[in-house]
Amino acid sequence: MVDGVVDKVLFSEKDLAEKVSELGKQIAEDYKDKDLLLVCVLKGGILFMSDLSKKIDIPLKMDFIAVSSYGDSTTTSGVVQILKDLDTSIEGKHVLIVEDIIDSGLTLKYLLGNLKTRKPASLKVCTLLDKPERRTVDLKPDYCGFSIENHFVVGYGLDFMQMFRNVPYIFIPKQEYVENMQSS
Ligand code: PRP
Ligand code: MN
Ligand code: MG
Repeated sequence: MVDGVVDKVLFSEKDLAEKVSELGKQIAEDYKDKDLLLVCVLKGGILFMSDLSKKIDIPLKMDFIAVSSYGDSTTTSGVVQILKDLDTSIEGKHVLIVEDIIDSGLTLKYLLGNLKTRKPASLKVCTLLDKPERRTVDLKPDYCGFSIENHFVVGYGLDFMQMFRNVPYIFIPKQEYVENMQSS
């Protein structure tokens, strides 16, 4: 599908499926007998949330919030905007935010601050990828799939200029591809 663009596959479909199952099992155990609400952070969190939710074998609800800090750029502007808010109240609910990646941490810091004011019973974070090296605010996920080095990665929800979210694995794109796209 994207053969010419891939420099290196970082996590294959199998790697992802195994990790997602593991996380789902742990979350089901931790939240059994609790009123769990999964909050997907659009758009990046969509594929992870979809697969993860199928591996959490307890009753749960889902809602979606869209924020954007990056736009089409590969680096954060630091300004976070809510583009689409949750449809439902989270008061008294056990909320688990589902993200594809934590980079600087600014998106999550904003989200945690915002959602906390709505009085959830608990508020935790599950991210597929974490880039601790890049953090500019002090923040640690409660659940994390993979901790990675500072590579620009795409696929499985993660985009470059809104592309490649549908690629079923996570890869590092070729440098020359990224540079060409950015200058055109
Ligand atoms: C990306 C990613 C995280 C956030 C991480 O979202 O999906 O939500 O940036 O970066 P940070 O830790 O530095 O804030 P983006 O703003 O690109 O929107 P998208 O999910 O729609 O691609
Ligand atoms: Mn995102
Ligand atoms: Mg993005």
